[in-house]
Amino acid sequence: MHILSLPHPKLTPIHTTPPPLYHLLVPSMAENSKPSYDDQQEIEELISSLPKGKGWHSSGLTLYQNFWCHSKFLPGVISFQRHFLARDSDVLIASKPKSGTTWLKSLAFSVLYRAQFNPTEANANHPLLSSNPHALVRTLELGQSAGHAPDLSGFADPRLFGTHVPYDSLPYSIRRSRCKVIYICRNPLDVVVSLWHFVAQVDAGDRAGGWSGMEEYFDNFCKGMDGYGPFWDHLLGYWKASQERPKKVLFLKYEDLKEDTAGNLKRIAEFMGVPFSDEEERNGVVEEIVKMCSLGSLKELEVNKTGRSIAGFENNSYFRKGEVGDWVNYFSLSMAERLKNIMEEKLSHFGLTFRVN
Ligand code: A3P
Repeated sequence: MHILSLPHPKLTPIHTTPPPLYHLLVPSMAENSKPSYDDQQEIEELISSLPKGKGWHSSGLTLYQNFWCHSKFLPGVISFQRHFLARDSDVLIASKPKSGTTWLKSLAFSVLYRAQFNPTEANANHPLLSSNPHALVRTLELGQSAGHAPDLSGFADPRLFGTHVPYDSLPYSIRRSRCKVIYICRNPLDVVVSLWHFVAQVDAGDRAGGWSGMEEYFDNFCKGMDGYGPFWDHLLGYWKASQERPKKVLFLKYEDLKEDTAGNLKRIAEFMGVPFSDEEERNGVVEEIVKMCSLGSLKELEVNKTGRSIAGFENNSYFRKGEVGDWVNYFSLSMAERLKNIMEEKLSHFGLTFRVN
């Protein structure tokens, strides 16, 4: 049993050349940041009045609407809440970071746009081969400044987006419209380990976060002080919504997706209203998508080894081991016991459990 201590990798240069086809699907962040509202000052004043906590980046966390938001992303979250207008045909990938977002984005993208981008041929033009999944499926609250409304006019229906915002804090139009939400969660023990590796990389150039080690990060996570957390509220918000409105919210677990990727891919396709036909199944479309979106395939692509698709995060930081139960390599017995007790107390009562060995 050992506690993780990571070297700080050097930052790689920003990927400046847009990948092929990227511009057809995703307007650039710069194009999306047209200032059209003058609420910037009001948002900044609001943020400065809210409680603060320690997080990644020197900017830390801010407690907003009962969740801890990375302070540097909060203006974007508020703009998203105020200005985003959902359409009935939209699909939203929702998650707490490090729960399998990148994987689900790539699977959902491949399924939803398979008429345009055939995944069965050795299709060198498939966007996933030249663009990071986060460049193709934009996280709505990221890349926005205070008072800037996202210009999403370049996106054709059906639109596919991502978000980390808790269910109760989603823009009203998402909750009220017929748009669909696919939520992915993961055993919190593995989430902390994945987060810690990510944080060590993200904070490598910004040591003001100043974590003494994984135990301190773990302690904050257990207290609920973690980006978009407490984790139990994030999970329960989407869990309850999926039970109350199963046609609107599909609730997935990373572990189930690992165990039966093809079966869950079919569920995702049906939920999005684009089920696989018998012919597609006979032609092996499901298996081709599973293969193209596997960790091994995505990790080896040049586009995912260098550059950034979201400012501040290197593309390679989204791909690590992708294992279930990796926590056993990092947690002491007492750490595991503490987190399992929290899961029992906060989640099990609502029927939300994870297989933990
Ligand atoms: P590990 O750090 O445990 O390896 P997110 O996409 O929400 O940021 O989650 C990142 C986690 O998902 C990382 O977990 C990463 O390795 C894993 N992951 C990324 N792509 C994956 C894929 N195609 N299949 C399975 N796991 C994947």
